[in-house]
Amino acid sequence: MNSLKIKEILDIQKENNNIKSIFFENKDKINPGQFFMIWIPSIDEIPMSVSYIKKNVNAITFRNVGYATNKLFNFKIGDKIGIRGPFGKGFNINGKRIIFIGGGTGIATLAPAIEKAYENNIKSEVIIGVKNKHEIFFENRLKKIVKKIYISTNDGSRGYHGNASELVKEIFTEENDFSIITCGPEMMMKKLYELYGSQPFQASLERYMKCAVGICGQCCVGNGLRVCLEGPVFDSKMLKEINDFGKYKRNVSGNIEYF
Ligand SMILES: Cc1cc2nc3c(=O)[nH]c(=O)nc-3n(C[C@H](O)[C@H](O)[C@H](O)COP(=O)(O)OP(=O)(O)OC[C@H]3O[C@@H](n4cnc5c(N)ncnc54)[C@H](O)[C@@H]3O)c2cc1C
Ligand code: FES
Repeated sequence: MNSLKIKEILDIQKENNNIKSIFFENKDKINPGQFFMIWIPSIDEIPMSVSYIKKNVNAITFRNVGYATNKLFNFKIGDKIGIRGPFGKGFNINGKRIIFIGGGTGIATLAPAIEKAYENNIKSEVIIGVKNKHEIFFENRLKKIVKKIYISTNDGSRGYHGNASELVKEIFTEENDFSIITCGPEMMMKKLYELYGSQPFQASLERYMKCAVGICGQCCVGNGLRVCLEGPVFDSKMLKEINDFGKYKRNVSGNIEYF
């Protein structure tokens, strides 16, 4: 699992101006919420969640944000990348009703979990929170399997004018018969946790990753929980123990950066 495998890019999908999915063969079992370390030759190795789980084929879906993702954005079908993984613990998908809340690129991590919930006949609703309408992706993919998809945009260009955590409060005023699964900006997830943390709740955290196998300690949160091994998905009981959740993360040098 930890050995580097070289994979040819089988397909590339442009999801919006700044987001692409890259498909490659993977015969290893993988659960929604798990991630790969993607090696971009001569550039860097970076963590990416699995965003499509098909028979023998997986994909990652990424935003062009910096040096490595910018290089990857210009890769073509047939180019080669390295993968290690899958790593980490994925989502626990059970219960009768799940509200999935994806902020920004977070919906890429949630999409295979939403598909699994559909296969398991679990009633799902989806909230996609983005800055503006041009940032929305995977809406058409999810529309095929989810009846209720709500959109929030920070600038009001589509759907609810505001952020996803405010929208959830508006929609589910009286109800609490659901569990929450979320991935996105940590402050959004922290707000959701403050609102719904007493219900079944899972959040996928991001921390700077190096080894991804629990050895280097770079990704530690709370009292030594490794996001790469014990996470990246944490439930409400574990989140309660993580005092830095929604407060700070450590950068590549190990220094604290406040959210
Ligand atoms: C478990 C996990 C799953 C992720 N899944 C996705 C995904 O599905 N789609 C997606 O677009 N992004 C995902 N990310 C974030 C992605 O790894 C970063 O956007 C990417 O590494 C940026 O690299 P860069 O060189 O382009 O940008 P840089 O300019 O180097 O960095 C931009 C930001 O990315 C972060 N970053 C850079 N290198 C790493 C690293 N080795 N580990 C963690 N963070 C890093 C930096 O802290 C910085 O905040 C995930 C991160 C983690 C930890
Ligand atoms: S990245 Fe090394 S312990 Fe998690």
